[in-house]
Amino acid sequence: MNTEMKGDWISHDTHRLALGCMGLGGSWNDESYDQNHIKQAELAIETALEEGIHFFDHADIYARGKAEAVFGEILKSKPGLREKIFIQTKCGIRLPGDPPGIEQGRYDFSRKHILDSVDQSLMRLKTEYLDMLLLHRPDPLVEPEEVAEAFENLNQNGKVREFGVSNHTPAQMELLLKYLTVPIRSNQIEFHLLHSGMLDGGIAGSPNPVDPSGLEGTIEYCRIHQIQIQAWSPISKGFLSGRSYQGKDGKLKERILKCKAKIDEFSKKHQAPAEAIVVSWILHHPARILPILGSKNPDRIRRCARSLEVKLSREEWFELYCLGRGSNLP
Ligand SMILES: NC(=O)c1ccc[n+]([C@@H]2O[C@H](COP(=O)([O-])OP(=O)(O)OC[C@H]3O[C@@H](n4cnc5c(N)ncnc54)[C@H](OP(=O)(O)O)[C@@H]3O)[C@@H](O)[C@H]2O)c1
Repeated sequence: MNTEMKGDWISHDTHRLALGCMGLGGSWNDESYDQNHIKQAELAIETALEEGIHFFDHADIYARGKAEAVFGEILKSKPGLREKIFIQTKCGIRLPGDPPGIEQGRYDFSRKHILDSVDQSLMRLKTEYLDMLLLHRPDPLVEPEEVAEAFENLNQNGKVREFGVSNHTPAQMELLLKYLTVPIRSNQIEFHLLHSGMLDGGIAGSPNPVDPSGLEGTIEYCRIHQIQIQAWSPISKGFLSGRSYQGKDGKLKERILKCKAKIDEFSKKHQAPAEAIVVSWILHHPARILPILGSKNPDRIRRCARSLEVKLSREEWFELYCLGRGSNLP
């Protein structure tokens, strides 16, 4: 078990691993889901639960709502499951075609969109409440007073228990916090060995942070304000654990090959699969970062869960960090 019960509710900050549900529900087009998608979701959820993973990450847009919908089918078929798990979803991105006839993809943190989106998510997930709602990507036209009104309404009506953001800088969080009447509990950011810009920006003398993400200071800000950092794409989409990189970026390819060789070495040394080493690098960080594992493959989910058994040394952590970012220290 990687969770602890607080009263009758499992709080967000007790989880060590989460399952991301972006790959559930089939394609991102208008085709509806079928029994195979439901079975696939059921297998992924059951595997996660067997591995002690009780935190599930969604977004209203994943497979255009079908990821939440297949998850809702599983909840309907398993009475009692809802109370045992933590469900997080996100809103604020509007894909082309939402609503039909509008082809411009955009962000929308308006009060109306947040409230409508949550109602739709609750309906698809077949649940009466969300444990956590995140604002998916920063909206340059954000009116923080409107976000505050929407969050307060959702909280008071029992629809959402906790709130957070995703891909937000410290300044963007500060702006929201000036108006919010509820705390920001989480910030979900891309963070893994091949995308460690959140660390690089704060390293003295880093000549070329590999991913200058504008997120410098985010880890420190979140630690100071007790905001849980969640890591998206924590297994680098498999490129460090068996998936061949077919892209044209030669420098990235070189980083992948060098980092992968070290991971294979550590895999033998720690007697753990490559995925476990990759995820353990994130778990090692003292900010207690929550990896959001995106696999729907039961074997891979199990291999990722073995990360909880791996204890990297400080030296091993830095070896991987330097190879992943492609430049040495000090
Ligand atoms: N907040 C945001 O803006 C944001 C953005 C992206 C994602 N997310 C969240 O983060 C979660 C994880 O992100 P992610 O899925 O991008 O990254 P990930 O966890 O690093 O990678 C998982 C993906 O890589 C594939 N994969 C892994 N190893 C592989 C291998 N050896 N060969 C072939 N394929 C392999 C998986 O396929 P299988 O399913 O077949 O294992 C799956 O599609 C998502 O589910 C979502 O919840 C959030």
